[in-house]
Amino acid sequence: MRSFSKRSLSYNYAIFAGKVCKLKSTITLLSLLLFLAFQLPFSPSDPGLKELAFKVLEEKCNACHQTDLPNKVFTLENMDGFAKKIYKQVFKRKRMPKGNEVVLTEKEKNHLLNWLKQAGVEMEN
Ligand code: HEC
Repeated sequence: MRSFSKRSLSYNYAIFAGKVCKLKSTITLLSLLLFLAFQLPFSPSDPGLKELAFKVLEEKCNACHQTDLPNKVFTLENMDGFAKKIYKQVFKRKRMPKGNEVVLTEKEKNHLLNWLKQAGVEMEN
């Protein structure tokens, strides 16, 4: 009688432990999926980042460059080649956008920074 109850106790425990394990692995799987779902839109190969940055260049930079500096009109094709220079002018030296009339919003700066990171530009500090 005694040994029976002991056995059933350990049997119950085994079921309980199994359930806990199952629950644990389900939670792990779910959090992994959640993690991936949140990571994906910001992953470094997101082509949307470049389009967002291009919109900023087009709206805030090209209007001026078109008239003043036609060899530096940014396009989706050439912008990667200007990435380093753009980082330097906009974020390091803060020379661009030139003058006080055109101002970048925080959102626009972030669009540029996200693309610059993706383009592999080395950033300081
Ligand atoms: C109000 C006009 C104006 C706006 C707006 C403007 N630029 Fe410029 N940009 C210039 C002029 C003029 C030059 C060339 C003379 C100079 O470097 O100051 C220039 C030069 C540059 C250069 C080349 C610098 C070099 O010699 O290496 C880069 C890169 C640049 N701009 C990036 C940008 C970016 C990015 C934006 C938008 C966020 C922007 N510019 C907005 C007028 C403008």
